[in-house]
Parts: sequence; C-alpha cells; structure tokens
Amino acid sequence: MDFPTKLFGIVGYPLGHSMSPALHNWGFHEVDFPGVYLAWSEPEDKLTDFFNAVRTLKILGGNITIPHKVAALKLVDKVTDRAKNIGAINTYYWEGDNLCGENTDVIGFMAPLKGKKFKHALVLGAGGVSRAVLAGLKELGVPSITLANRTQEKAATLGKEFGVTVIPWDERMKPDADLIVNATSEGMKGDQVNMTPYEASALAGRTGLVYDIVYNPLETRLIREAKAAGWQVESGLTMFVEQARAGFALWTGGIEMPYEKAVEKVKHLLGL
Ligand code: ATR
Repeated sequence: MDFPTKLFGIVGYPLGHSMSPALHNWGFHEVDFPGVYLAWSEPEDKLTDFFNAVRTLKILGGNITIPHKVAALKLVDKVTDRAKNIGAINTYYWEGDNLCGENTDVIGFMAPLKGKKFKHALVLGAGGVSRAVLAGLKELGVPSITLANRTQEKAATLGKEFGVTVIPWDERMKPDADLIVNATSEGMKGDQVNMTPYEASALAGRTGLVYDIVYNPLETRLIREAKAAGWQVESGLTMFVEQARAGFALWTGGIEMPYEKAVEKVKHLLGL
C-alpha cells in the first residue's frame, strides 16, 4: 500500500467548521498528488510552537485562519508584497529553505474580476473579509473605492489604512457604483438570511456587478434582487474556491485544482 508522504494542514482556533481539509484532500486525490491535509486547532499561545513544528516536521504548506492570520505573518521567513500590504497571511508554503506567507483571500477575491473594468466600487462591511476585498480592489487598480459600514468607526479606520472614501451607512445607496461588494454577513444562512445590505430599488436604472461574499445560501436575497434588476452577479463561492486553488498551486509546484469540480465539491460539502 502507498502512503501519502507530503503533509499539509490548517491552523486556527477554534477550527470547528473549516472546509479546507475536505477540499484539499479531495483535490490531492483528484490530481493524484501524494498529499494529506490535516487540521490543527491551536490557541494563540501555541502558534510559535506550531510554526516550529512546521519547520521540524517539514510540513509542506497549508492555511492559517482566524485568529492567527496577523500573528503568523511574523513567524514565517518571507511574505509576498500582497501579504505585507494587507498585514495578514492565510497560506504558508516553502520556497527552497524559506517558509513563506501569502494572502490568497486577496487572490481569490480578485479572480472573477480579472479582465473586467470598473469605475467605482462600493464596499459594504468593515470586518476581516473587507480587508481582502479592499486590498484586491487596490491591486486591480479600481480608480474609485467607497466604503460603508454599520459601525462607522470601523469603516473610518479601515478607510484610512487603505486610502478609500468612507461614507455613512445610511448613505450607501448614493454612490453611482458599477461594482457593489457585500462583505457584511447580511443575507447569510440563519437569522440574517432574509436581510440585504442594499436596497433593490437603488439598483434599478443602472448596471454593473454585484459581488456577494456570502456563499451560503448560494443565492442570497441581494444576488436574487440584483439579477432581477439586470445586474451581473458573483458569489462568494468563487472567492472561496479560488483562494483554495491558489494555495494548492503553491504547494504542489503549480498543479491546478480543477475549478468546476472544486465548485461542485464545495457545494456538496455545504449541502447546497
Ligand atoms: P468577516 O470576517 O466575515 O468580515 P466580521 O469581522 O464579523 O466578519 O464582520 C462582519 C461585518 O458584517 C461587519 O462589517 C458588520 O458590521 P459592524 O462592524 O457594524 O458590526 C457587518 N454586519 C453584521 N450584521 C449586520 C447588519 N445586520 N447590518 C449591517 N451590517 C452588518
């Protein structure tokens, strides 16, 4: 019997619901790569030990999730400019003898926007995901970016860091944006499923792309209303799958996790 010889894995705390192990183990099998991807639930005071173990055991790569994305940046040897700019890593991998950090959340966010041109992006929400969204929009060179968040101070802090315009939450329907990104939890399965961060009436009479980072349900109220108003739509499922594929390629020396099949796999994992 052949045993997988290459070890990968995610570290976070707590790690209850991560889909990464199931997705990457499926991906390794799919492309016939001898990897195994585990999950390590380690609190903050164990993170240094964890990265020492990565070096000692030659763990070849993996992901870093909440709450370690910022602290982990200092525990690797090298980080990409992208990761440096956003101040957080969600992926580690080796480049020769250097343990490296990358932020594939930004890559995943940008993936479906590549080759498209936008004049004005409106970002709703100022939590963790919004950081990847803003970094991605900056990297793509979107000329005008406006940020709104229910709690104004959080938007102000983030807006200053990324150099974008901040408006009050109540005024979010005013900008004539051709890209609207929902990075709030409104619309998410559970208590917020019937909520939307943007009024459907404000979508009428213009077009653009609505990108909802929420992916469960796949069709949020915002996506449904945007489609009905004739807007293009993108789901957060794309961002999730693309961030995973970017890591997978870094770990396997460029082997691609097949996109369509990965989308189906994630839908299956989510019961969608
Ligand atoms: P994530 O890591 O997914 O970004 P988060 O850091 O908890 O999650 O951020 C959640 C975002 O959804 C925040 O911008 C939050 O707004 P506040 O900063 O005001 O809390 C936003 N959010 C959650 N529920 C909301 C609601 N009912 N209306 C508007 N925004 C909401």
